[in-house]
Amino acid sequence: MPNPFVIGSGPPGTNYTVMKRAFDEGWGAVIAKTDAFEINFSCPHGMPERKMGAAVGQDCVLLEEVCGWINAKATVPVWAKMTPNITDITEPARVALRSGCEGIAAINTIMSVMGINLKTLRPEPCVEGYSTPGGYSSKAVHPIALGKVMNIAKMMKAEFNDDHYSLSGIGGVETGGDAAEFILLGASTVQVCTGVMMHGYPMVKRLCEELKEFMRTHDFSSIEDFRGASLEYFTSHTDLVRRQQEAIRQRKAVRKGLKSDKEWTGDGFVEETESMVSN
Ligand SMILES: Cc1cc2nc3c(=O)[nH]c(=O)nc-3n(C[C@H](O)[C@H](O)[C@H](O)COP(=O)(O)O)c2cc1C
Repeated sequence: MPNPFVIGSGPPGTNYTVMKRAFDEGWGAVIAKTDAFEINFSCPHGMPERKMGAAVGQDCVLLEEVCGWINAKATVPVWAKMTPNITDITEPARVALRSGCEGIAAINTIMSVMGINLKTLRPEPCVEGYSTPGGYSSKAVHPIALGKVMNIAKMMKAEFNDDHYSLSGIGGVETGGDAAEFILLGASTVQVCTGVMMHGYPMVKRLCEELKEFMRTHDFSSIEDFRGASLEYFTSHTDLVRRQQEAIRQRKAVRKGLKSDKEWTGDGFVEETESMVSN
């Protein structure tokens, strides 16, 4: 691939014309079920009602069975696309990898109700007066996607050989910086769906330029130079408290900053809080 940018599954990759357009503009790949399979175990739109899509990604027994069938026959790499609409996304990701999948793609859209029309009292979006929860995407889901990808990446690092498995980060990518964040968490490719629908296929040139600019700033010459570099800085709440107490102990020695939240005065919360943290 010339760059890590992949058109995510959805309208921007549905027919020959739009796929050709994507490659002409410089996208690295299009999810279109050709040289590899990305299996959508995550669609929230009507599929779960029929026990498909997200219903499979939310049920590890079903997922194991279906991944087993696919990997028994597939002669190309298989990625499993995960739903965020589940308590612990690492559970289905682990099952997919153990069942022969080569990669994980995450996330699909987040089940949401967009709002209620306060005049008509009907939910939105509205079809003949009725609605149903639907998949939320774009910028608002980016932090949630980062959280899920971080959890999957940590699990993959701890339990699987990093060289043989890949992770594709998806959710709210609109800038090279958004993509860099996914790569810093361990993704080797980054997918864009809604961004392409809103900004058009040429956005890949800006994405590449912004990603290269980030790489130049840090003197990185390849994706591998920084892939997963931020992962080691995630720890537990308990460990954060321990680190904070240690930093406060050290500052106490030089009499600087608040020593605990008992000393909050109510004025200047930001400054007072900053005096308690170590970054
Ligand atoms: C209109 C629309 C259609 C989509 N269709 C599919 C689909 O057919 N298969 C799939 O796996 N994901 C589908 N998705 C999910 C996207 O590929 C992607 O996982 C999700 O929208 C988050 O990324 P984004 O913020 O870049 O859109 C669709 C998303 C949107 C907004």
